[in-house]
Amino acid sequence: KPLSQILNVTEFEEAARKVVSYKAFAYFKSAADDEITVRENARAFSRFYFHPRILRRLSVIDTSTTILGYKSAIPMFVSGAALAKLGHPLGEANITVGAGRSGIIQMVSSNASLSYEEIANSRVRPDQILFFQLYKNNDNAKAVERIREVERLGFKAIFLTVDAPFIGNRERDVRAAWELEDINAIEKQDSADVPLMKQQVEEEIDGNLDGTVGLSLAHDDVDMTWEETIPWLRSVTKLPIILKGIQSVQDAVLAAEAGLDGILVSNHGGRQLEYALPSIEVLYRIRKQRPDLFTKMEIYLDGGVRRGTDILKAVCLGAKACGLGRPFLYAQSAYGAAGVVKVIRILEREIVLGMRMLGARSIDELVPEMVERVDWDAI
Ligand code: FNR
Repeated sequence: KPLSQILNVTEFEEAARKVVSYKAFAYFKSAADDEITVRENARAFSRFYFHPRILRRLSVIDTSTTILGYKSAIPMFVSGAALAKLGHPLGEANITVGAGRSGIIQMVSSNASLSYEEIANSRVRPDQILFFQLYKNNDNAKAVERIREVERLGFKAIFLTVDAPFIGNRERDVRAAWELEDINAIEKQDSADVPLMKQQVEEEIDGNLDGTVGLSLAHDDVDMTWEETIPWLRSVTKLPIILKGIQSVQDAVLAAEAGLDGILVSNHGGRQLEYALPSIEVLYRIRKQRPDLFTKMEIYLDGGVRRGTDILKAVCLGAKACGLGRPFLYAQSAYGAAGVVKVIRILEREIVLGMRMLGARSIDELVPEMVERVDWDAI
C-alpha cells in the first residue's frame, strides 16, 4: 500500500505485518498473557467523551507545548521501544530523522539496535532533543558508564523504566520462535525442494531471532527501591529524571514526594503485568484523587494512543504529552523515516481538527472540564 493511502495510525500495523519477518512482527505486537491490557489500553479511551465549547475564535490554532522545558510541535513524543532494526535496516535512525523533521522528541531505548552514538549522529539538527530510557544495570558502575555516554552525546533526560524488573510473559513471541524452529526442522528433511524458503528462514533466524532471544534482563537491577535507587540516580546525574511505568496513584504520590521531574504513566504497552489498568484510567484516577500532583511534576502517558482525540483526552486530564511505541516501530518498518513523519502528520492533523471542534485554541485551553468518563453500563 502506498504511504499516501494510509489514513490513520492504526493502519501502519497491517502495513508492517506485510513486510517484516514473522518473528519481528510477533516481537513488536506481543503483550503479556492473553493480551488484555494491551487491548484495553486502546479501548479505554472510548470511555472518555468530550464537552466541547463553542463560539471561540478558531482561525489560529497553536498545538505546540514544552516537555521538560523543550519545545514540542504537538503534545506527543516517541516512547523508547527496543530493536527497531528488526523491521528496517536503518532502525532507530528512521525515528530520529522523522521526529527531528517534525519537531517532536524521541526517547531512545536502552536496548536500541543502533548504538546511541549512531542515533545521536542521525539528528537532523544539532539542537534536536533526545531523551534516554534507562534499564538500570545491577552494577552501579556500569549504569553510570551508560549515563555518562548519553550525557556526552547530548541526551537531555533519563526515563528510568520501573515496570520491567522481569520480562512479561509474551506467548506470541515465544510461539513465533518455536514456529520458526519447526519450519526449519521440516525443511531440513526435504531441503532439495525448498532452497528459497530455506534461505529465507536462515535469514530470519540469523538476523532476528538472536536479537530478541539475547534480550535477557539478566543484568538489570531487580532490587531497585525508592530509598536507594532514586537518591543514587540523583547523585550521579544532573539530567531530569522521570519514572517510566507508574501504574498507581500511590506511586505517583511517592514520585512527587521523591522530587522526581516527572512520571510516565505506562504499563509498557501491556507487555508486563497483565491486567494492569489501562493507562488513561490511571491518569484519570490521579486527576480525581490527587490533582495537586500535576503542578508538582510533569505527567505523561503512553499505551494505546492511536488518535489525536486520545492525546487530547489525556492532555485535558492534565498530561503534558503522550508517548507512542508500536506505531513508530510499524511505520519505520514499512516506510522508513517517511512513515515516521506520516504518523506525526496524521496525529497533528487530528489534534488541530479536534482542538477546533473542542473550542481550544492552545494546549492550555484543554482542561479537565472538557472530558467526562462515561460508564454506559451504569446508566
Ligand atoms: C517496548 N517498550 C519498551 N519500554 C522500555 O522502557 N524499554 C524498552 O526497551 C522497550 N521496548 C519495547 C519494545 C516493543 C516492541 C514495544 C512494543 C514496547 C514499551 C514502550 O516504551 C511503550 O511504553 C509502549 O510501547 C507504549 O504502548 P504502545 O504505544 O505501543 O501501545
